[in-house]
Amino acid sequence: MAATGSAVGLGNIWKFPYIAGENGGGAFVLVYLVCILMIGIPIMIAEVLLGRRAQRNPINTMRHLAAQAGASSYWQLIGWMGVLAGLFIMMFYSVVAGWALDYVVASAQGTFSGGDKNSVGAYFSELTQSTNLQIAWHSTFTILTVAVVAAGVTKGLGNAVRFMMPVLFVLLLVLLGYSYQQGNFMAGFSFLFSFDFSKLSGQSVLTAMGHAFFTLSLGMGAIMAYGSYMPKDASIAKTVCTVAFLDTLIALVAGMAIFPLVFANGIEPSAGPGLMFVSLPIAFGNMPGGDIFGTMFFVLVGIAAWSSAISLIEPGVAWLTETFNINRLAATGSMGLIAWLGGLGCIYSSDFFNFLDKLTANFMLPIGGLLIAIFTAWVMKRSHVNKELGDISGLSFNLWYASTRVFAPLSVLTIFVYEVYSLFM
Ligand code: TRP
Repeated sequence: MAATGSAVGLGNIWKFPYIAGENGGGAFVLVYLVCILMIGIPIMIAEVLLGRRAQRNPINTMRHLAAQAGASSYWQLIGWMGVLAGLFIMMFYSVVAGWALDYVVASAQGTFSGGDKNSVGAYFSELTQSTNLQIAWHSTFTILTVAVVAAGVTKGLGNAVRFMMPVLFVLLLVLLGYSYQQGNFMAGFSFLFSFDFSKLSGQSVLTAMGHAFFTLSLGMGAIMAYGSYMPKDASIAKTVCTVAFLDTLIALVAGMAIFPLVFANGIEPSAGPGLMFVSLPIAFGNMPGGDIFGTMFFVLVGIAAWSSAISLIEPGVAWLTETFNINRLAATGSMGLIAWLGGLGCIYSSDFFNFLDKLTANFMLPIGGLLIAIFTAWVMKRSHVNKELGDISGLSFNLWYASTRVFAPLSVLTIFVYEVYSLFM
């Protein structure tokens, strides 16, 4: 449940639709799905497994397992890079989560009723130009996140997610139903699912792979930290497959709710980060009971973002508390403060915002994942690895082992090379 809470967040509802729109739709979606299946799932199994075996925070996990395998202590750099990546992501994540919080209030006040592309678009651009408003919401979100992490992640998070996910899903289905009736459903559908490979650049392939890591919370230790809290008798493979399935389902339903509205309302699919924040309020603003549905929806987006943000700072906090003798509140407070300052940077400069987004999703997370795969399948003893995955059949184990050893790392490397190649061609 906590891992699902981490995976399902702004990545699914806000980021996936907007980057799918910017990268031409169908072919991008296909590459993303293939990356989830062939790269994301095997590496996610590896990352959970490392945490559960070592029962420590990500930095100490890597140090401990490297020592056990007689390997270099430099492997702990995976953990360090992860703590940094988590902070970098949190810096822009809390700004976007802040927009969602603002929309809770706006929806409740009926701001969007009868809204169209122009009025909602103007509302969004006003919000993103107001530094004060954004700082207020970004600070609110940071405080909410820090409060929970300081209290200890495992308490209550599972229950919150268990309740929130189904409600979020039902609201997405309500939106989907509305889109089906009032939107241009066929245009939305064919945009997302007809594969035009001529639209696919090296940059798009890299973005699709990066997003597979981002949406699964992969490659920075979040999933490793959660793995370390996982009971020894729980099945890693089953848990990972369930999380990946739910995560993908929610992204696709969100996409299918948004794009028919985009086309019916004359919004450009490549409109960028505002895509969700402009298209969905139009739907809420024009459906019966829309103010209530809209308010509920943005509350849930806020909660989804919050259960994700928790996992962004948890690895760093776990490391601080387990290594130095400082209490959880001080550790969480310092992580929160750094992230908050970076968030100010993102509010003042959209270039900084985009830079952090690209740096983490397209580079830090895939590199972290690549190293996790190599460590698990080349450095660790096969018997140690097998022990954590004891519940799956020999055939499934071999399949997973081969993909973690060869296929997934090779695919990540190929995509990096392809990106560099297409930069110069
Ligand atoms: N997966 C989350 C989302 O889609 C974001 C997230 C939370 C994340 N924790 C992470 C991304 C760790 C990368 C690494 O919104």
